[in-house]
Amino acid sequence: MATNRNGPLPMYSAWAILGILFLLSIFFAFRGRMKIAHGPSGKTITRFTLLERGSHWLLASSFIILALSGLNLIFGKTLLLPIIGASAFSGLTIFGKFVHNYVGFAFMIALVLVAVLWIIHNIPNRHDIVWLLRGGGMLGGGHPPAKKFNAGQKIIFWVVIICGASLSMSGWALLNPFTTTMMADTAALSNSILGTEFATNLGPIQEQQLQTLWHSIMAVFMIVVIIAHIYIGSIGMEGALDAMTTGEVDQNWAKEHHSLWVEEVNEAGQANTKAEPAE
Ligand code: HEM
Repeated sequence: MATNRNGPLPMYSAWAILGILFLLSIFFAFRGRMKIAHGPSGKTITRFTLLERGSHWLLASSFIILALSGLNLIFGKTLLLPIIGASAFSGLTIFGKFVHNYVGFAFMIALVLVAVLWIIHNIPNRHDIVWLLRGGGMLGGGHPPAKKFNAGQKIIFWVVIICGASLSMSGWALLNPFTTTMMADTAALSNSILGTEFATNLGPIQEQQLQTLWHSIMAVFMIVVIIAHIYIGSIGMEGALDAMTTGEVDQNWAKEHHSLWVEEVNEAGQANTKAEPAE
């Protein structure tokens, strides 16, 4: 199937990636960096443990390597080959393919770790509705209350987990060609639950073609979402990156963005202090 490299996929992917970069640039140009409204307090509160940060960075670094080596398969021939020449491009792409195949396992391990560590904080609650209605604070002034993760972050979390799992499964099918029937099974499931009329008698070649296409669609969608995530977690918001570097965030940042979480942490701290035996 030519769709992946020569058909509409590269064009839609390019529009999606350039589109999100353009939107974020416009947002940054008008809004600038989101500041801590009351300025840094100088006092910090622990946000993420070493295990949480380690899992996040394993996920992030593996994803970035997979994204770059994967994007090379979609765009490399058009963008890189004319610049670096055929032999360098061939060497780089073969190396990229091996790296992609192995780093996929690091991504899957990190995905499981992140899911287990954070799923409890990403169950939707009523505060998420308020958060979304107020555009995360862009409407109505001030920051809407949130627990450890706000609704925007919960959306990122579930996109990462669900699309990451789907990417992993289609990646598995590509690593083990002609051994899976996931696409045919999904079509059958959809026909029985949703009443669709997808063909279920897929031959092994069609199965692989659909897996390839799905893998690319999921990957590009995730890349677009993650670009927005990286923006907000780095230059977009003052004080956010500290959470994933030192694990400590400024108390004013925490109170502004995650007021209910700060209350929970303080209450737990008081309960612990009370429980400590008097000397
Ligand atoms: C250079 C790249 C990245 C930076 C600077 C970055 C930064 C951050 C920061 C600062 C947080 C914590 C936010 C908070 O305190 O609440 C965070 C959370 C998170 N990150 Fe990243 N990240 C990066 C890449 C990635 C990638 C590639 C993925 C997944 C493929 C990812 C997935 C997550 C998830 C699921 C969370 C928790 C939910 C959320 O805060 O949105 N991150 N990241």
